[in-house]
Amino acid sequence: MPLWSRDDFLAAISGNVRGDVSNHVTGISIDSREINDGDAFFAIQGDNFDGHDFAERAIEAGAAIAICQIGRFEEGSGPFPRLEVVDVLGALEGLGEASRARVKGIVIAVTGSVGKTSTKEALRIAFRTFGEVHASIASFNNHWGVPLSLARMPADVATGIFEVGMNHPGEISPLTKMIRPDIAIITNVEAVHMEAFNNVLGIAAAKAEIFEGLESGGAAILNRDNKYFSYLSEIAEEKSAKIVSFGENKQADIRIEDLILKPDCSVVKARIFETKLTYKINAPGRHMAMNSLAVLAAVHVAGKDLARAALALAEWAPPIGRGSRHEFQLGSETLTLIDESYNANPASMRAAILTLGQSDVTAGGRRIAVLGDMLELGEQSGALHAGLSEAIANAGIDLVFTAGTDMESLYDALPSLLRGGHEVDAAALAKSLPKKIGPGDVVMVKGSNGSRMMDVVAAIESWLRGN
Ligand SMILES: Nc1ncnc2c1ncn2[C@@H]1O[C@H](COP(=O)(O)OP(=O)(O)O)[C@@H](O)[C@H]1O
Ligand SMILES: [Mg+2]
Repeated sequence: MPLWSRDDFLAAISGNVRGDVSNHVTGISIDSREINDGDAFFAIQGDNFDGHDFAERAIEAGAAIAICQIGRFEEGSGPFPRLEVVDVLGALEGLGEASRARVKGIVIAVTGSVGKTSTKEALRIAFRTFGEVHASIASFNNHWGVPLSLARMPADVATGIFEVGMNHPGEISPLTKMIRPDIAIITNVEAVHMEAFNNVLGIAAAKAEIFEGLESGGAAILNRDNKYFSYLSEIAEEKSAKIVSFGENKQADIRIEDLILKPDCSVVKARIFETKLTYKINAPGRHMAMNSLAVLAAVHVAGKDLARAALALAEWAPPIGRGSRHEFQLGSETLTLIDESYNANPASMRAAILTLGQSDVTAGGRRIAVLGDMLELGEQSGALHAGLSEAIANAGIDLVFTAGTDMESLYDALPSLLRGGHEVDAAALAKSLPKKIGPGDVVMVKGSNGSRMMDVVAAIESWLRGN
């Protein structure tokens, strides 16, 4: 079965057919560089590029049809097969909605300040033991990522899993109305993306928009340990959602009874209502164990077998840049590099610092944090950076290297014993750092994507390989 038969595709989007549109649609793309045969190419207007400039190229690369704005190509011009619409993004949204409407399986939406992608990937692993899963790729969670992910969902999936993100109020509302989740998860509410908000309560309110699209009889899965739990559950209750809570709190429906944290994995003893389960996850850190509780909450709500899901979670390891570990043999010792360079905000920084603090080091080895700027924090940025100092000192970190203007605030706030060095940016740190680390060390590198700490990771790796 094609993803979209020609007729279903054309029925889902109102527009004018031009050229020879006779093929079925087997995939959806908005990037002309990544076209597969049979794709429908949506010529989206982005910040830097206009998809219309690549529409003909997409067809040459094998796309079955291009969706373009009316008037962008002259009538009768370019015989390439296309569907002309008033609004290309609107057409993608319409297709996303049609996609949702034809699915009979369970649909899950995941939002929260941190842990969306990790939780989404863990859900994918747990739910695929029960049938075909379709989940958003990467962090496709915004105004184009969500409709694109929806439109790509095969009609017969057992479970659809969608990440939903936001940078400002009102963003989640239309996305959740497209997704119409049966289960909505809010991993947590923390001070991230503060630029468009006066305070964290504003963020909680924006996250609560996720319930606006919840199907009737749907469930809200909420973090019982989070400060905004009561606030969020009240809003969910107004929507008649079934509330299921997770966390360490004794009142949580899904809770951790015991947690064994290892450098490269955790063993979780959990209680899911009346069921007790012990399972292993290969994503280290308390925060990942918490995410796994949200996953089991969803499995419970879906009425699926908890033991099978928990067993599957052993396959869940952190993706590159989100806590992935690399070990290097240096003589008889190892150096462990923890790559957290994919992104950072105060909440995930604290989680990564705690995890580093729990890492075993051999005699002489040190727990070293290498930190780049956390971006998009608005006016409080300096204070939020400096505020990490206490967490670092308490976690048992031995040495800290920093890069970037905001991180300088943290560097200055650190006890002098912990100060390893500060550089203006990641490029400078990439040069100076590698020779300062050695056998036995556990080195965790983290910063917002834009801070380019992945360059520091690469520099360490190439230095160690050369040694
Ligand atoms: N529950 C959590 N609490 C704190 N930090 C977390 C949590 N889950 C994941 N993280 C960390 O946050 C960062 C981003 O994780 P990710 O799953 O990509 O989140 P998102 O998709 O919300 O940006 C990573 O460093 C990850 O280790
Ligand atoms: Mg994400």
